[in-house]
Amino acid sequence: MKALVLKRYGKSDQTAFTDISKPKLESGEILVQVHAVGLNPIDNMIPKGTFKPFLRFELPATLGSDLAGIVVEVGSRVTRFKPGDAVFASIFDLGTGALAEFAVVPENAAALKPANLDFVQAASIPMVGLTSWQALKVRAKLRPGQKVFIPAGSGGIGTFAIQLAKHLGAKVGTTTSTGNVELVKSLGADEVVDYKQQEFEEVLQNYDAVLGTVQGDAIEKSLQILKPKSNVVSLIGPPDAAFARARGMNFFMKFVFGLLSRKIIRHARKRGVEYSFLFVHPDGRQLAEIGKLLEAERIRPVIDKVFPFDQAKEALVYLENGRAKGKVVVQMVKM
Ligand SMILES: NC(=O)c1ccc[n+]([C@@H]2O[C@H](COP(=O)([O-])OP(=O)(O)OC[C@H]3O[C@@H](n4cnc5c(N)ncnc54)[C@H](OP(=O)(O)O)[C@@H]3O)[C@@H](O)[C@H]2O)c1
Repeated sequence: MKALVLKRYGKSDQTAFTDISKPKLESGEILVQVHAVGLNPIDNMIPKGTFKPFLRFELPATLGSDLAGIVVEVGSRVTRFKPGDAVFASIFDLGTGALAEFAVVPENAAALKPANLDFVQAASIPMVGLTSWQALKVRAKLRPGQKVFIPAGSGGIGTFAIQLAKHLGAKVGTTTSTGNVELVKSLGADEVVDYKQQEFEEVLQNYDAVLGTVQGDAIEKSLQILKPKSNVVSLIGPPDAAFARARGMNFFMKFVFGLLSRKIIRHARKRGVEYSFLFVHPDGRQLAEIGKLLEAERIRPVIDKVFPFDQAKEALVYLENGRAKGKVVVQMVKM
């Protein structure tokens, strides 16, 4: 079968379309004919070796983690799915890849595809949906009436997280460039700062939580808009010692991550703010809950551009340019 395979780590492109054998199933896995794959910035970071020290990724490996497709085979212990089911899943960090004609998915990472979404729409959801869920609902425990700052509202994470925060009853502040102001308002953002015109920390105040999504000094500056006893959940780092502990890393890595996050944690504590780094993990049960919100049209997918499978590399370059409005999706099977 055809797959987009990473052969070795490097700054220049080391991926190639390769004919590999169809994966074999373990008892707790399902084999999915992949119809569409949603791309995420991490799909461009993995080939450069950024996550080499702590991802379960053995080369050569198929790239991509978010998929939607049809179950074609199930392992002997699988109870929740049968051949013919339409499913969606994130297989991020599970040692397998999605940018292929078929993908192996652990049963507990998959959920039934929301019936009202097509495969492209469903494939756009898993990583941004799970990350937003784990950050806003599980980690920050966002409550009705609280205020959350979700910078980069027009990105993959932003377009989902704004809608989830609104569903949870929160008020949302966001940043975006002039051309995307109407988009983020249409998703429910209450306070919108055009970051080309204004500094968010001069406009927003009394926030209860921040989702860290923008590199640079945005997280440090966001401390100024937070109330005491509030939360910063960072998706972009610096990683902290708790993250190293949760992943069972050795003492040295815990020390390094502790050191990397020391400054922001100290600054946050001075203001009574809790800082933590979140690294998303696949979870089929959470994805099923997210699926219900999509089916009830509480949240809608936002898709910028769809590429055919043979242009998956161009799709990755397009995403890497950092201007996507919502998600970039690769379509393998046209319905
Ligand atoms: N830790 C985790 O588990 C985890 C999980 C998922 C994602 N992430 C990380 O979260 C970050 C966001 O992911 P994503 O999928 O949303 O990325 P993305 O879709 O590639 O983000 C693109 C968007 O960012 C906006 N943007 C760029 N610079 C901005 C700035 N300075 N201020 C406001 N908006 C800005 C752009 O809007 P304009 O064109 O208007 O600038 C564009 O719409 C990435 O770094 C990703 O790696 C981490």
